[in-house]
Amino acid sequence: MYMFKSTPPQITATAAAAAVAAFFLLRRRSKDPVAQVPAGQQHHPSAMRNRIPILKALLKLLPESDSFSGPALEIATGTGALMEVVAPAFPHLTMQPSEYVPETAAAPDEQWSKHGKIGLRLGLDELACIDEHCKVFKNCVPAVALDLSKPWPTEVTEKNGSHVLILCANTLHITPWACSVGLLRGAGQALAPDGHLVLYGPFKVSGEFIGADGGAGNAKFDAKLRSTNAEWGIRDVGELEKVAEGFGLALSEKVEMPANNLCLHFTKAS
Ligand SMILES: C[S@@+](CC[C@H](N)C(=O)[O-])C[C@H]1O[C@@H](n2cnc3c(N)ncnc32)[C@H](O)[C@@H]1O
Repeated sequence: MYMFKSTPPQITATAAAAAVAAFFLLRRRSKDPVAQVPAGQQHHPSAMRNRIPILKALLKLLPESDSFSGPALEIATGTGALMEVVAPAFPHLTMQPSEYVPETAAAPDEQWSKHGKIGLRLGLDELACIDEHCKVFKNCVPAVALDLSKPWPTEVTEKNGSHVLILCANTLHITPWACSVGLLRGAGQALAPDGHLVLYGPFKVSGEFIGADGGAGNAKFDAKLRSTNAEWGIRDVGELEKVAEGFGLALSEKVEMPANNLCLHFTKAS
């Protein structure tokens, strides 16, 4: 106690300033992608919360990351939060981020209600924002625009039949049903035999909301979604499974995730 009190205040202030400067210098030089992204490009807290549980599920569901290689696609990459953990964890995959780019951008406070978008992209367009976050990963290629209700971009379709993985998180409940069908159709065409499609988010099972709370939380969320946009809503696993079968995809696993979410693992017929 006495020693601290006796330290000359100017030395303490100098040391503190040096420590702060060193901290920021190290952060700028580090490989931490968040440290390299300009202020204003921020992932949404929910994306930060769920990306590690999703990564852990992927590490269990997918082949060993040492030998898992080939083109992989993320649908609705958002600001790139999930990509930032998946790309380095699967270094032999060539990761293609993609995002819905509406013809007319919504005002910042209407990003969610108009287009289901979360996170901050201040000053950059959709794809530039993803690239800003992901360019540090050598196995990530530049993001492309992909609207699930339309034909997929040539950067993806030129590799049809060779993708080993397609990921899509938190999207099917916040888009019209036609987008769920578009995702399953596109995945059926894009995936290689035995390729993997992993969907994450809230889902109904046998027409019922699920969760330790008896599904009350998801039912409330579903009501909020539907009142925001009548075409949105939590999808039923069985209905997705039926459509998926028509495109050569079989549901192989359904993993319970935190906060009443599921990971659905589909595989393409060999
Ligand atoms: C709740 S955000 C999820 C973002 C990110 N996958 C995550 O988990 O943090 C929903 C995403 O759906 C995308 N989206 C909305 N309409 C879409 C469409 N027609 N086709 C593809 N993606 C769409 C939005 O742009 C947004 O990135």
